Amino acid sequence: MNNPTAKALEIRGLTKAYPLPGGRTVAAVRDFSLRIEPGEFVTLLGPSGCGKTTVLRTLAGLEEPDAGEILLEGRSIATLPPHRRRIGLVFQNYALFPHMTVFENVAYSFRIRRTPEAAVRQEVAAALKAVGLDEMGGRLPGQLSGGQQQRVALARAFVMKPDLLLFDEPLSSLDAKLRVQVRGELRRLQKRLGTTALYVTHDQVEAMSLSDRIAVMRDGQVAQIGTPEEVYSRPASLFVADFVGRVNALHGRVVSHSNGYATVDVLNHRIDVPMSHVVGTELLILARPEAVQLRKAAGDGPVGVVEELEYCGDEIAYRVRVGTVLVVAVESALRRTWNIAQGDCVGLHLMQKALHVLPADVQAPMSEREIPSDDSTSMEAA
Ligand SMILES: Nc1ncnc2c1ncn2[C@@H]1O[C@H](COP(=O)(O)OP(=O)(O)O)[C@@H](O)[C@H]1O
Ligand SMILES: [Mg+2]
Repeated sequence: MNNPTAKALEIRGLTKAYPLPGGRTVAAVRDFSLRIEPGEFVTLLGPSGCGKTTVLRTLAGLEEPDAGEILLEGRSIATLPPHRRRIGLVFQNYALFPHMTVFENVAYSFRIRRTPEAAVRQEVAAALKAVGLDEMGGRLPGQLSGGQQQRVALARAFVMKPDLLLFDEPLSSLDAKLRVQVRGELRRLQKRLGTTALYVTHDQVEAMSLSDRIAVMRDGQVAQIGTPEEVYSRPASLFVADFVGRVNALHGRVVSHSNGYATVDVLNHRIDVPMSHVVGTELLILARPEAVQLRKAAGDGPVGVVEELEYCGDEIAYRVRVGTVLVVAVESALRRTWNIAQGDCVGLHLMQKALHVLPADVQAPMSEREIPSDDSTSMEAA
């Protein structure tokens, strides 16, 4: 964030509905507001259909909003045509011109502006070098791999030194290994140039690793905005908790309280949480799998049976049945000390510091969550 010309983006009350046949409409984005600081990298994270692309398209001028304001450094861009908005766009399908060389693809915006040849050569060469394609300028897109084509698209977005970079799932057509590699390059480039960026994805790992802040979206609105750590550790709802990672959502009931601590009954055991609540209040205790520890010799906590053990390379996941509830716990595969096998009887320890407590009524209606039909795989407390 050391680019003195970087610009803040402010979106206020953006609303967009699409007409459907029969005179009905679909509300794609509803009263959506977001501020991005100069040079900041913000990601819109949400399920398919929640309105992410619609937000980007209205920013780029490809879609006209029904209401709302879009301000770059305080100045409205709503009335500017797309090519005058100084916005760099990268899409999932690279959208390169197949008959133009890599060099000319990157140079395209300069050609439209009739930029002098010497400047074009210099800027395009620098951009291609930045994405590691300095040798490839003479090739056609069809002669490049998918990862290389997406790097060309990156160079084309960066080369104009735009005020704002917009990315719509740019890595989703790359295979897993390339995705991680191009992701790193994209982030380094954005950091180095200090350009304000808005990135769209439905992949929480991508959002976590790239972003200064994440705006989790649901039904055309922002469900929560915060740093990756905030949305992961202190989600505002079960929807957010669930979308940014695996989570055990355990029902709890306050049985007593004193000195700012509530004693809560969870899995038929008592834990203390630092909040005051009326006795009888129903709560949702969120525990990430890494916040659950298992012990072979049962301690004084809840006891369960390991139904399934999943080896994931870097970690081992255990599904433990505690009465009617399935709890997931993970252990680092390298520092494997639990020494637990399928069928073992184990004691569970919920790491108090890593728990997050929500009022029970904040949780999403079950019908709106993707819960597997086979309820034995659900992490939901019964
Ligand atoms: N051109 C369109 N016409 C009608 N409905 C659309 C159009 N584009 C998007 N939608 C609808 O608007 C909602 C948001 O879509 P979109 O912004 O593409 O979501 P996302 O990018 O998060 O998947 C969806 O319900 C989608 O079906
Ligand atoms: Mg989309």
